[in-house]
Amino acid sequence: MSTFQAPKGTYDLLPPRSATFLAVREAISAPLRNSGYGYVETPGFENVELFSRGVGESTDIVSKEMYTLTTKGGDQLALRPEGTASVLRAALQGNLHKAGLLPVKLWYSGSYYRYERAQKGRYRHFSQVGAEAIGSEDPALDAELIILADQAYRTLGLRNFRVLLNSLGDKECRPVYREALQGFLRGLDLDAETVRRAEINPLRVLDDKREDVQKQLVGAPMLRDYLCDACKAYHEEVRALVTAAGVAFEDDEKLVRGLDYYTRTTFEFVHDGLGSQSAVGGGGRYDGLSEMIGGPSLPSVGWALGVDRTVLALEAEGVTLDIPAATSVFGVALGEEARRVLFGKVTELRRAGVAADFAFGGKGLKGAMKDANRSGARFAAVLGERDLAEGVVQLKDMQSGEQGPVALTDLVDVLRSRLA
Ligand code: HAM
Repeated sequence: MSTFQAPKGTYDLLPPRSATFLAVREAISAPLRNSGYGYVETPGFENVELFSRGVGESTDIVSKEMYTLTTKGGDQLALRPEGTASVLRAALQGNLHKAGLLPVKLWYSGSYYRYERAQKGRYRHFSQVGAEAIGSEDPALDAELIILADQAYRTLGLRNFRVLLNSLGDKECRPVYREALQGFLRGLDLDAETVRRAEINPLRVLDDKREDVQKQLVGAPMLRDYLCDACKAYHEEVRALVTAAGVAFEDDEKLVRGLDYYTRTTFEFVHDGLGSQSAVGGGGRYDGLSEMIGGPSLPSVGWALGVDRTVLALEAEGVTLDIPAATSVFGVALGEEARRVLFGKVTELRRAGVAADFAFGGKGLKGAMKDANRSGARFAAVLGERDLAEGVVQLKDMQSGEQGPVALTDLVDVLRSRLA
C-alpha cells in the first residue's frame, strides 16, 4: 500500500523549519500582546451563513473557496476561510461589547481554509495571526494596527515590504461612486465574467491584474474624488498618525481587497520577493459588519498577517531567525544503572526549568554523542559505570570542548549557574 500524502494545497510543518513558523507567530503577536490586545480563540468551523453574510456572497472566498459541510444533524457549516467574522461573532455572543468597554481589542492565531488554486504562497490550509479592534471609530486605532504590523515585520528582520493604503468610503459616499464606476465599466469591452463582476462588485474590477483590462481602466472615476468630507477627514487623520510614527506607506487607490465588509481604511502589506502571491498581510475597517451579522452598530478595524507568506518572505530576503537551541543539556548514559540515575537527573533538571533531553534507544557512546551534538545542547552530561561508582558525571561543554567531572549531587545546581 502506498503511504498517505497531505491533501493537495496543504503541507506539514516539520522541524527544523517549523521552529521558524512558531517564531513568526510569536513575533507577530508580541506587539499586540504588548498593546492591550487579549487572546481570542474561536472554533475552526462556523455556520455557513456567518461567512456568506459577513464576507459577502459575491466574493471568491464565499462563492468558490469555502469548504462547506452538512453535519449528521443537518447543520450547514463551513471551515473558516478567515477570522474577522468569527471573532466579531464571538465578541457579540460573549457580550464583550458593552458600552464603556469599547474598543474590545482581540488577537488570534490559527488555521484557515480556502479551496484555492494551489501554488507557492497560496494554500488551501494556511495560518494567520490577526487582530481586531471592535466598537470604536477612531483613526488612531487604524493607525495603531498598521504601526504594529510594521513593527512585527521589522522585528523579524524583513525590509522589502511595502504598506499600501486606501479608503473605500462609507455607506454614504461609496454607493454614489459605485454607480459612477458602473456607468464607466458598462462602456468597456469586457468578457462576460468581468461584466457580471462589474454589476455585482464593480470595485473588484479595478483590481483586475490583466493588462488589457488595466488599459481600459485609464480614466475610470476614482473613489478619492467621491469620498464624503467625513471619510476624507478620517483618512487624512489615519495618514497623519501613521506618518508621524515614521511608517512609510503608498497611497493605492486601486486597493480593493477580496472581502466585502470593508469601509473606509483598507491596507495591505506586500512583499516584493514573493511573485504573484505578494500580500503578506492585509486588513481594514469594517464599520458595518456587526449589523450584517445581526449585531448592533460596532465600527471596527483589524488585520490578519499570513504566517506562511511571512516565512516565505523571510526566506526570499535570506533572513534566518536567531532561534535558540531547544535543549540546553543532553544526558548520555552508559550501562543500565547509569541510565536509571541519569534519567532521574534529566527529570530533575526539567523540573528545575532547564531544557534537557536524553539519549534514548540504548545507543553506544558514539551514536549518543551525535544525538547530543544534533540537539544543539550547550552541555552533554555523560555518565559511565565508573563515574557512577565515584558519584560524578562528566560534564562536557559542547562549544569549547572542555570536559570535567561534577559531583552527581551538584549537577542540577552547577548546570543552572553555568547556563544562567
Ligand atoms: P485576507 O487578505 O484574505 O484578509 O488574508 C490575510 C492574509 O492571509 C493575506 O495577506 C495572506 O498573507 C494570507 N492568506 C490569505 N489566503 C491565503 C492562502 N490561500 N494561502 C496562504 N496565505 C493566505 C483576511 O483574511 C481578513 N480577515 C483580514 C482582516 C482582519 N480584515 C480585518 N480584520
